[in-house]
Amino acid sequence: MSTFPHGFLWGSATAAAQIEGAGSDDGKGDSIWDAFARVPGAIANGDTPAVAVDHYRRMPADVALMRELGLDAYRFSVSWARVRPDDGEVNPAGLDFYSRLVDELLEADILPWLTLYHWDLPQSLEARGGWANRDTAARFRDYAVIVHEALGDRVTHWTTFNEPLCSSLIGYAGGEHAPGRSEPRAGLAALHHQHLAHGLATRALRERGAQQLGITLNLTNAVPADPSDPADLDAARRLDAIWNRAFLEPLVLGRYPVDFLDDVRDHDFASLILDGDLETIAQPIDFLGVNHYHDDQVSGRPLPEGTPPGLRPTDYATGNPFVGSEHLTFPTRNLPRTAMGWEINPDGLRHLLVRLGREYPTLPPLYVTENGSAWDDVVEPDGSINDVERERYMLDHVDAVAQAIAEGADVRGYFVWSLLDNFEWAWGYDKRFGIVRVDYDTQQRTIKRSGHAFRALIASQRASIQ
Ligand code: FCB
Repeated sequence: MSTFPHGFLWGSATAAAQIEGAGSDDGKGDSIWDAFARVPGAIANGDTPAVAVDHYRRMPADVALMRELGLDAYRFSVSWARVRPDDGEVNPAGLDFYSRLVDELLEADILPWLTLYHWDLPQSLEARGGWANRDTAARFRDYAVIVHEALGDRVTHWTTFNEPLCSSLIGYAGGEHAPGRSEPRAGLAALHHQHLAHGLATRALRERGAQQLGITLNLTNAVPADPSDPADLDAARRLDAIWNRAFLEPLVLGRYPVDFLDDVRDHDFASLILDGDLETIAQPIDFLGVNHYHDDQVSGRPLPEGTPPGLRPTDYATGNPFVGSEHLTFPTRNLPRTAMGWEINPDGLRHLLVRLGREYPTLPPLYVTENGSAWDDVVEPDGSINDVERERYMLDHVDAVAQAIAEGADVRGYFVWSLLDNFEWAWGYDKRFGIVRVDYDTQQRTIKRSGHAFRALIASQRASIQ
C-alpha cells in the first residue's frame, strides 16, 4: 500500500448543476444548462438537470454519507443562478442553502472546498452575451464577493473556475456544452474573459482575507500517435498549447504561449487582451487543482478509414472541433477503456503531475481535484454494486499519485469524481461516475464497492500516520 504525506486530503467532488436539482425552487433562476437542456437533441435522452439527484433537499443525508465514507474534504460548487439569478438582487434563500451545507460539513469535520464556477452561468447573463462579453468578468467578481461575504467566515479554500477549457472553448466554439454556440471568436473571448474573471475575483477575495485561493484546470498529456512523424509531433505541440499552456501560462507566467497566439491569429485574439489584463490574470494562487481522466493521443494526419467517430479531445456528443483543434485527429491506442470510451492509463496521471512541477517551478502545491471513471453498473439481486472496474481505476490512479509524490511532485490531496451518480452534462444520466449509486426513480443512495474501497483506503491512511 502506498503512503501519503501527513495532512494529505482525501475527498470527493460534485458540481451544483449535476446534483442539486430544485431547478427553479426558492428563487433560483435558469442557468445556461437549464436553457441548453431545452434545445432538442442537445442532451442525451432529452435529460435535464431540473431534478438531478435532489441534493438540494437531501443535503443533510448526503453529508452524513460523506461522514460515513470518512472524507476529509468535499469539493462542491455554488450555483450562481441560485445566488444571484438575474444580476440584480441577491437571493437570500440561495445563499442560505450553501451556508447550511458548510455548517453541516464543518459539523461532520469535513473541509468545505468551494468552487465558484462549475459551468452554470445564469441565463440572464448569457442573454447579454455570456462569457463572450467582457463585462461578465466583472459580474463574476461581484458574485464571488457576495459568496465570500456570506461564507468567508467558515470556508478557507476557494476555487474560482472548474475546467475553463470546457466552459469557454467547448461551450462557445465547440457547441457541445452550454450555451451551445459554435463561434470560434466567442470561444476565444470566453477563454480570455474567464481568465480575467479568475484574476479579478482572486484579487478581490485576497483583499477580503481569503486564505487559500486557486483554480482547477483539466490538463492532459498530448501524446504523438507516431513520435517519429513530424506531423504527429506538431499535432501534439498544438494540442498541448490549446489544452494546457493557453491556461497555465497566462495564470502562472502572465503571458499567452506564442504558438497558441499564432494558431488562433485568424480570429484576432490579441485584440481581446487589454492593457493590464495579463497582470490581473497572473495573481498569485495558493494551489492548482488538476483534473485528469485520460491522456490524448493525437495525430496530424487523417484517421484511417473506418475509425469510429467522436474521438475528439472532449469525447462529447457530436465532436465538433473547437477553435485551435482543427486538423487534429485522435486515433485510439490499444488500451482498455471506460464506459465514456476514455482510455485507462494511470501512468499518465503520474507523468502529468511530475511534469507540471518540472515545467513550472513556480507552481503552488497541486491537488488532484477530479479523477474517476464511468461504468455500466449492475445492481446485484441483493442490491449491492460490485463495481470492480471503478475500484481498480481509482486505486491504480491513487498509486500513480503516490509515485508522482515519490518522484518529487508536490501533491497534497486527491478528490474522487464523483461522490454520487449524477447529471453528466451532454450525456445526461447515461454515464455513472459515482462511488455511491443513485436510483433515479427513488433517489435512494447505495455505497458501491468502490465507495467501500475508498473508505477503507482513507481509514488505512489515517491509521498509518497515527
Ligand atoms: C469533468 C467535469 C465534471 C465531470 C467529469 C466527468 O470534465 O469537470 O463535472 O463531468 O468531467
